[in-house]
Amino acid sequence: MNAEFERPEGAAADWTIAQDWASYTAQDHAMWDRLFERQAKMLPGRAVPEFLNGLDVLRMTKPGIPDFRELSERLMALTGWQVVAVPGLVPDRVFFEHLANRRFVAGRFIRRPDQIDYLEEPDVFHDVFGHVPLLSNPAFADYMQAYGQGGLRADGLGAIDRLARLYWYTVEFGLIRRDGALRLYGAGIVSSHGESIFALDDPSPNRLGFDLVRLMRTRYRIDDFQQSYFVIDSFDDLLRATAETDFAPLYRALEDQADLEPGDVLAEDRIFTLGTQRHARAKI
Ligand code: PHE
Ligand code: FE
Repeated sequence: MNAEFERPEGAAADWTIAQDWASYTAQDHAMWDRLFERQAKMLPGRAVPEFLNGLDVLRMTKPGIPDFRELSERLMALTGWQVVAVPGLVPDRVFFEHLANRRFVAGRFIRRPDQIDYLEEPDVFHDVFGHVPLLSNPAFADYMQAYGQGGLRADGLGAIDRLARLYWYTVEFGLIRRDGALRLYGAGIVSSHGESIFALDDPSPNRLGFDLVRLMRTRYRIDDFQQSYFVIDSFDDLLRATAETDFAPLYRALEDQADLEPGDVLAEDRIFTLGTQRHARAKI
């Protein structure tokens, strides 16, 4: 989440621009295909089946960068969502407003070949491959809308930073339990080759049970793999735990509590894996 900045010339009042699908070059599409194939090969058995199913039902398995209009048509029929293009990061309120209206904002540019493994700003591969498939799932689709409504509310309560942690540890870096095993669903994980392996298989990070308040207390890192991942039991559970809870008293209670560091583990945590933190330590 980010502070206010200026709307680029050519963007509409809601910050959207045309995707201009026809202007992608053969190289742009080839870059998408390369990223897509690498992830599609690895994710079966790692990503939650609803994500893989989303790729299928939205026909994202066909080659090339998806046309947002086609994607929106399919998504609209399934869960009432659309995908709209924006020039880059947008102000918090604009972002929340779109989500609250079932519009997912996505970057239209694609990374350069030297950025295949890491880039700072989300590109169309992260935004569309990472985020859009799960919008075909009704519970997750409702969660994203509720999050947008919650964001507008949090803005009025001065609690955007708290709420941003919820997004980070669920929508971006969430794990889910399925048939006794852990699976990936966070967009930041499934769109990253390295983190798709690290988040499930590496002994370094903690894997802890989802707890709403705990997670809103926890700082996160934006410059490396996560030190802790939080595990939900189901998308229905996530929706219930958030949409049916009034966050205002939680935000107030949190004012008296110290933040937790990304790698902290508490006595009351439900521990799936107690991480060695070897990866994080090696970097300091
Ligand atoms: N129920 C939350 C509130 O009262 C809003 C919310 C819903 C936040 C779903 C996140 C996810 O503010
Ligand atoms: Fe993202």
